[in-house]
Amino acid sequence: MDLSVVVLAAGQGTRMKSPLPKVLHPIGGKPMLAHVINTAKSLSPSQIIIVHGFEGDLVKQTFPQNEIQWVEQAERLGTGDAVSKALPLIPNHHRVLTLYGDVPLITSDTLNRLLKATPSTSVGLLTVVASDPTGLGRIIRDKKGNVERIVEERDANDIEKQIHEVNTGIFVVNQSLLAKWLPRLKNNNAKGEYYLTDIVQIASKEQHSVVTSVPSVIEEVLGVNDKSQQVTAERYYQRHLAETLLKQGVCITDPARFDLRGSLYAEPDVVIDVNVVIEGKVLIKKNSRIGPNCVLINCDIGENVSVLANSYLEDVSIEADCTIGPFARLRPGTKLEKGVTIGNFVEIKNTNIGQGSKVSHLSYVGDTIMGSGVNIGAGTITCNYDGANKHRTIIRDNVFIGSGTQLVAPVQIGEGATLAAGSTVTKDAPAGHLTLTHQLNQRSQEKWQRPVKGDCQKGTFHSPLATALEHNDEIQSK
Ligand code: UD1
Ligand code: CA
Repeated sequence: MDLSVVVLAAGQGTRMKSPLPKVLHPIGGKPMLAHVINTAKSLSPSQIIIVHGFEGDLVKQTFPQNEIQWVEQAERLGTGDAVSKALPLIPNHHRVLTLYGDVPLITSDTLNRLLKATPSTSVGLLTVVASDPTGLGRIIRDKKGNVERIVEERDANDIEKQIHEVNTGIFVVNQSLLAKWLPRLKNNNAKGEYYLTDIVQIASKEQHSVVTSVPSVIEEVLGVNDKSQQVTAERYYQRHLAETLLKQGVCITDPARFDLRGSLYAEPDVVIDVNVVIEGKVLIKKNSRIGPNCVLINCDIGENVSVLANSYLEDVSIEADCTIGPFARLRPGTKLEKGVTIGNFVEIKNTNIGQGSKVSHLSYVGDTIMGSGVNIGAGTITCNYDGANKHRTIIRDNVFIGSGTQLVAPVQIGEGATLAAGSTVTKDAPAGHLTLTHQLNQRSQEKWQRPVKGDCQKGTFHSPLATALEHNDEIQSK
């Protein structure tokens, strides 16, 4: 039988206390509704219909339009009313599976089992026995154990509230039956809404069997109504991702402190230490190690690379055998060839660094093409911005740059050149030469004395340093 999937996503989610529609709140970096759509697609249905309402345009814009049909529920009159908005789009020979945009972790395995368990003239319900059923619709069965009806918590009496078997909201029934039953829903309940769940009572009264099925694990049907439930779902999801990676041979040091908010392809024996956050598309080849507290966004990392603690890498490509960090920041457009070393407090942007080159301490390198075998001394800065435009620095192979050097771009340093420490280079430096940009007027003071603690008398200030500087001024003015 053909299948139509209807996803209810019109609610505001007042309990989230956020202007963002509930179904756009993320789990694993993706909107909840994206998870539901992906699972729906994996069932290969004839169509997916999303009922939108609150901030509907924003919800629509977030997803590709070609694979989804959208219907608007202008007023939130309840889940039954929401499904009735989708009904005209569904041919009467279809089965209809309803999913909720706020139940994001449901899997296709569970849904396929529900579909298989439900004969075409029955209603199929996904239920769970919850240790804490608070807030959920309770499943009422007769003495023989047949499902009679669902009662929402607000409408339940004290005895019904003791029931732990609850409705997940996921439900399958034929279009022709839905079309017959939906117009008969009433809103004479605590919320004054048309509850989809009331279909169950109508079905059982009309002698249609109601079959139930359970999810593979209870966490699949976690409903997200507030931020506490959102983080519960998030942690379950992350744990599940970490377990999958562990099975593939990736060492996630602590699955409870792992956050994948995009996609990760990691080869066996990669080690990911605690508190690493991964976003976008990240690839890590074998034997590479990501230290604690690193952020990796859209990175391509080769074999045998060490990213040491507290490094932040975004839109970068790193070849084999590189060492990065600790405390390094690699900004978009950074490309490191084999065996490069980037040390602590180094920022690199839009730069290509050749094989075996080293930028070991406290430097900024931006808009640069650097050859191989280069050594950049501590505190070197490429001055790439003149206040209006960005300029390029070219550093050829085997250059040695002394500490504290500024390279005022556009500038080019020839192959094998050496720049003296503290140089401010404004013109191209020739290959093979030592270039110095300052006079070596170093001098020493004989009569100078180090200041000592507490060496100031009442009313006057006799700092030996101040005296020495005065003396120095005298020498210079001569
Ligand atoms: C619903 C079920 C409850 C079940 C629980 C499981 C009903 C009446 N109750 O309760 O039995 O235990 O889910 O999570 O169905 N929505 C619309 N339009 C509306 C109302 C809701 O599109 O007019 C959408 C919401 O955006 C949400 C979903 O339907 O995605 C469920 O609505 P919600 O208000 O969260 O229902 P619950 O109280 O959780
Ligand atoms: Ca809900």
